[in-house]
Amino acid sequence: MDKLLQILSDGEYHSGEELGKLLSISRAAIWKQMQKVEALGLPVESQKGRGYRIAGGLDLLAHDTLCNQISPKAKSLLKQLEVQSTVVSTNELAKQRAEEANASGLVIVAEQQTNGRGRRGRQWVSPYGCNLYLSLVWGFDGGVSALEGLSLAVGVAVQKAVIRIGAQALELKWPNDLLWQQRKVGGILLEVIGDPTGFCQVIIGVGLNVDMPEDHAADIDQSWANLVELVQGDIAKNELAGFVVDELLILLSDYHEMGFKHYRDEWYQYDAYADEAVTLSLMGKVVEGVARGVDDTGALRLEIAGEIKVFSGGEVSLRGAK
Ligand code: BTN
Repeated sequence: MDKLLQILSDGEYHSGEELGKLLSISRAAIWKQMQKVEALGLPVESQKGRGYRIAGGLDLLAHDTLCNQISPKAKSLLKQLEVQSTVVSTNELAKQRAEEANASGLVIVAEQQTNGRGRRGRQWVSPYGCNLYLSLVWGFDGGVSALEGLSLAVGVAVQKAVIRIGAQALELKWPNDLLWQQRKVGGILLEVIGDPTGFCQVIIGVGLNVDMPEDHAADIDQSWANLVELVQGDIAKNELAGFVVDELLILLSDYHEMGFKHYRDEWYQYDAYADEAVTLSLMGKVVEGVARGVDDTGALRLEIAGEIKVFSGGEVSLRGAK
């Protein structure tokens, strides 16, 4: 199936006979495989006498092309890059690898997730071939306290990667959603395994909507957007993924020394809700205030009745908006 998708990724017609020869299977078997390709939600077209094609082609992840985007400094920190086709969740797979052995520096990218995870137990809609799903494992010696603010700093790193492909207008919503015009373009999910006071490994999961057709998004319960809406022309997924890996590894190389305070000003630059009236939903309670940025640990500062209060959990929404 992977080889078939590679061949069809050029968007050109390929006859059943040609495909059968290339894959050493019968034309009937090709027909069956094409049903599976269609089941992935890809726009398969078939025409008598011409064969099959995927309209518009596919921009597939490729190990070497992705690696070529990573700077020498970051590459020296990369332990392994796994390019997968379909996985349950890149975070889940990365977690399994990290449970088996120290996997610090491992990166997993996939074309599709069958059970992509979002924050707060939500599902992350992850159709084949049109978005970026990436997880990176990093080991920390100082226990979970060394991770303070990391999820916000990761937001800054992903924002830098996205700027490098020409998408200038994204903003960060506390703690780390990537928004464009109040619509969610990307999300970040950190999971930690190991000793909370000693050596632990953090699995950093990044999901970016790149060019997802509308009909895949029926299950998304909030407004969302694609990165292609923000740039001129197409996005090369390997370039984007390489830049994300590059920025993340550079961030992680000295995060244990720098901490979030080093990234706080940068986070401010992209703060979507700076000085806006917001609502924070927190363990069944709702708190209203004016967003006044974040503190050195990455906690949200809310001005409530003239006083600043800090919150390290919860879900922020603009007051009056969803
Ligand atoms: C959010 O809810 O905002 C976080 C979404 C994180 C999604 C990414 S996609 C790659 C990685 N694997 C997962 O299962 N989730 C994260």
